[in-house]
Amino acid sequence: MTVSIEETRRPYKSWPNDAGFDASIEQRTPIPLKVTGTIPSFAAGTLYRTGPGHHKENTDRGEFRVSHWFDGFTHIHRFQLISTPSGCTVLYNSRRQVDDLLEIVRKTGKLDGISFGQKREPCTSFFAKLKSVFEPQRSGNPQLENVGVTIALNAPGLSSSSEKRHNVLTTFTDTSAVKHLDPTTLKPIGVASQTILHPALTGQLSAAHPAQCPLTGDTYNYNLAFGVAVTYRIFHTSASTHETSILATISGTDIKPAYVHSLFLTPSFVILAIWPSHIAAGGVKILWERNLLDAIASFDPTNPIVWLVIDRHHGRGLVSKFTSPAAFAFHSINAFEEPSLDAATTEVFCDVVQYHNLDILHKNYYYNLKSTGPGVADFIATHREGIKTHFARYRLSVPSTPSKKSRPTEIAKTYPLIGELPTINPSFATKRARFTYGVVDRGLSSFVDGIAKTDMETGENWIWEKMGHTPGEPIFVAGVEDEGEDGGVVLSVVLDGVKGTSYLLCLSARNMVELGRAEVLVAVGLGFHGRHIAA
Ligand SMILES: [Fe+2]
Repeated sequence: MTVSIEETRRPYKSWPNDAGFDASIEQRTPIPLKVTGTIPSFAAGTLYRTGPGHHKENTDRGEFRVSHWFDGFTHIHRFQLISTPSGCTVLYNSRRQVDDLLEIVRKTGKLDGISFGQKREPCTSFFAKLKSVFEPQRSGNPQLENVGVTIALNAPGLSSSSEKRHNVLTTFTDTSAVKHLDPTTLKPIGVASQTILHPALTGQLSAAHPAQCPLTGDTYNYNLAFGVAVTYRIFHTSASTHETSILATISGTDIKPAYVHSLFLTPSFVILAIWPSHIAAGGVKILWERNLLDAIASFDPTNPIVWLVIDRHHGRGLVSKFTSPAAFAFHSINAFEEPSLDAATTEVFCDVVQYHNLDILHKNYYYNLKSTGPGVADFIATHREGIKTHFARYRLSVPSTPSKKSRPTEIAKTYPLIGELPTINPSFATKRARFTYGVVDRGLSSFVDGIAKTDMETGENWIWEKMGHTPGEPIFVAGVEDEGEDGGVVLSVVLDGVKGTSYLLCLSARNMVELGRAEVLVAVGLGFHGRHIAA
């Protein structure tokens, strides 16, 4: 048996987390988990978790490694929280999502197709590249398609049964491909592209996080088509009719193809921020590189963020455009709007977890991310400022009439140290929310080292932390009514890096103190996102 270089290295800052990046064990049949403390009964429901399980596979040609965390082999997890008089009991099952792809990797020792950041030999012909990038659901086989960043139950327009007799889970990624799973067994059951929503949505990229209206359940996203004329189509899918309409078709010399992971939504507008994470050569560089990250041009601090404000309800399309100084973000936190005192404008506020540049994309190579990764210490020393998160609240003054000129974009608030993978109390979406929850990297490990609750008005933080324990995205579950915005719990799957096993942690959302936990006997992959479906 070969011993890799990593296995001989000591974990960075004695905070081990490798087990969360090498988690390949699946549990297909639900099993009960041992609960200590109390998980309150109001948290009853199902928590789904997405993301990569493992990234290394033994092949006939030696060990194959996925290079980038965003490309790890998808593994979906399901925690059933069942209400009892004394709190929730918990059942757990999980399933790997790309067994056929893994089989090909084992046989060939390589990973074909377009990825986020996979390093490859430049050997494929131009036409083979063209074919693979322009056919996002190229195989038709869900076991071959690594689509697993976000997850939704019965997503508008995408549920396979129009009669709605069956529930369907759908996973999303940064391309226009979507994948369907059985919500109980987690078995992959289909793959499709956004053209099933609307024939005009033929572009290659999209946000992994569609925005969702908390009142109607309607979803909003963009579809980005590469080419000489780069085009963003902002679209809306109704949760009641399941029909999709194009709200705006946007192109122009200032509209660049970019990696944009999420959008903003207010009661009146969809807002797309095009970060200067531009894809070179009108997007076509992806064909040569066969991965998105190497196709993204070097960060140019003179390139602005371009903000596009699109009308949701009255067919007015693109109503305002703003620019602001360069920065990058994966995740919008929330957005809301308020009328100005003179009613001349609607003040739109967009809350975001922001970086000064694109360093974080390169930090997420396993080489720079795992606690024994050979690149960790150097990368952190060299890019310390670039990988720090900041909270930013942008203020866009949208004129009430087209004749009025827009005022410049301003940053209304900004604070250092804000959690990534940010979530809020979902009933405060599109309203002025005060609290956000996320995972923080304070430099104590190679990855993240705590969960922060942040007061977005003041910048005050409350932290849950435990040495050697690496948390995943915290999901807010509201408690009984009238307890206020932070009345509830946050659920996070945490890796105990010393033991190499994970547990579902339940914290009071008010004071970030542990209420209870449910222990999994294996490591759950350090993944991306999740969704709690109330019982
Ligand atoms: Fe995300």
